[in-house]
Amino acid sequence: MANIKCIGILTSGGDAPGMNAAIRAVTRAAIYNDMEVKGIYRGFRGLLTGEVVPFKTNNVSNIIQQGGTILKTARSTEFREPEGRRQAYETIKREGIDALVVIGGDGSLTGARIFAQEYNLPIVGLPGTIDNDLYGTDTTIGYDTALNTIMEAVDKIRDTASSHERLFFIEVMGRDAGFLALNGAIASGAEAAIIPEIWTEVDQLEELIKSGFRKTKNSSIVLVAESEITGGAMTMAERVKKEYPQYDVRVTILGHLQRGGSPSATDRILASRMGAAAIDAFMDDQRNVMIGIQNDQIVYVPFSKAIKNDKPINRDLLNTLHILSI
Ligand code: F6P
Repeated sequence: MANIKCIGILTSGGDAPGMNAAIRAVTRAAIYNDMEVKGIYRGFRGLLTGEVVPFKTNNVSNIIQQGGTILKTARSTEFREPEGRRQAYETIKREGIDALVVIGGDGSLTGARIFAQEYNLPIVGLPGTIDNDLYGTDTTIGYDTALNTIMEAVDKIRDTASSHERLFFIEVMGRDAGFLALNGAIASGAEAAIIPEIWTEVDQLEELIKSGFRKTKNSSIVLVAESEITGGAMTMAERVKKEYPQYDVRVTILGHLQRGGSPSATDRILASRMGAAAIDAFMDDQRNVMIGIQNDQIVYVPFSKAIKNDKPINRDLLNTLHILSI
């Protein structure tokens, strides 16, 4: 193993439930293996401003159940510039940090990759995002909790949809990825999901209307992935109002409530396994990899693959949703 005595840890980008469980796991696994840990506050920005605090086991007590991130998070524009990264590396040297664990989504791991290459710094990434859009891992930390939150919200909206016999477009997060919309639709028994991945292949709204969804039901729920490609739920509703004025249409945008809340058991376990695996990775002389999970096995995914490749949607799920919505 490279001579790693001190691990820095930060969370970056959008917060996700389970990030705290991951911080706890990284910290405790590192200390268990006789390493020091330093918590870096406010993502990469904290490296520029030097917000670094030594972490002991009790710094991470009583956080496994908390949503958000105790380390705070940010999307740092300064870190995108070479000068910002130079300053960040100064902090790394000053604090005696030998390796870094970065918990975040696509943008954060892209930043980590560039930083690792420029300064020859060992970095391991953990996929922390509700969007589930990182290639090489079946799921990401926060995705399961967000899915459950969506399901509960849709269950509630369904009461109004059915009482008033309305067509509801419910917009969910995902930043141009349809995982939350598609699986959220299946979990909540919605009629359809409108997702960016198949946007150019079919007119999903047209298909829905043509399928005669009103033949057997008076109310309907359609989940729409937020995306510039689809235009989101508002755009769908405007279109229906114009083309099918007979429908009583409403829109709900679930927004940031999807990112909050106590992590599910699945996310806590995933984050705990991945956090411990990050320390194993350093001990295995791995660097510049993201920890992933595939078929319940921990895997190392090179940053180049995790970030660059579009993670495909499982098309069987589209079919399942279609069959079950009759
Ligand atoms: O990446 C997570 C995510 O919640 C996306 O689904 C969404 O597009 C974005 O973050 C919202 O970012 P912000 O909280 O900065 O508005």
